[in-house]
Amino acid sequence: MGLFSKKVSHKAGQVDKSRLPRHIAIIMDGNGRWAKKRGLPRTAGHKVGAETFRKIALQCKALGVEYLTIYAFSTENWKRPAEEVSTLMSLLKKYMQEAIDTMERDKMKLRFFGDLSALSPELQDLACRANAVADRVEGFQANLCINYGGRDEILHAAKLCAAAGEEMTEENLEKHLYSAGIPDPELIIRPGGELRLSNFLLWQCAYSEFYFCDTLWPDFGERDLDEAIVAYQQRDRRFGGVK
Ligand code: IPE
Ligand code: IPE
Ligand code: MG
Repeated sequence: MGLFSKKVSHKAGQVDKSRLPRHIAIIMDGNGRWAKKRGLPRTAGHKVGAETFRKIALQCKALGVEYLTIYAFSTENWKRPAEEVSTLMSLLKKYMQEAIDTMERDKMKLRFFGDLSALSPELQDLACRANAVADRVEGFQANLCINYGGRDEILHAAKLCAAAGEEMTEENLEKHLYSAGIPDPELIIRPGGELRLSNFLLWQCAYSEFYFCDTLWPDFGERDLDEAIVAYQQRDRRFGGVK
């Protein structure tokens, strides 16, 4: 194809909606630093960060992305001060209750990835109820990772695979991951300036494209998501082959 004969259906620098990632995963990071910069307690950053999650989920749905996986609380985050953990848990409660009430109306389902057995009985009950509603909803799916660790997920899946007496193959192991049945994320975004995965989606990220930016999560906006998708669309994905 000649240099000028290629039809460009979208403007350079803009999201090409015909080549969207089906699944975007985000490590929400920078809530604490955002608050500190304003002289506020870290928990204030989490409150604004939770609203950012809502906004970005709506944007993904509107664009036509099918799955959004968000890292909200890691298996290591229990090390934080009790007050911070408790604020995060009460935010979780609020969003679970809201999801139960609105998922069907908004055609948006919320699922949870992680070991929920460490949560309070009240939160576990809300998660069960949210799951029951989600079962009735078709469409955009947001996965909230709570008490989630990539290593924990793989180990948990391997144990289930072994207990079922299944042969240890990639396919069999994947059936027991929290993400069973969901395509791997094509794009993983980490705002907040850190260049690491912090135990996120270790199995699923094998061929993901990574996008890091300095914007702190509470400041992350629609333009930031667009920029991440545009960057993803400029990548050459080879999966170990040659083109
Ligand atoms: C991300 O923001 C939210 C969670 C990990 C729960 P942080 O709380 O990690 O914010 P920073 O990285 O300390 O700024
Ligand atoms: C990763 O962020 C976990 C979540 C976003 C939930 P952290 O802030 O906990 O990661 P580190 O400590 O910077 O690696
Ligand atoms: Mg952090």
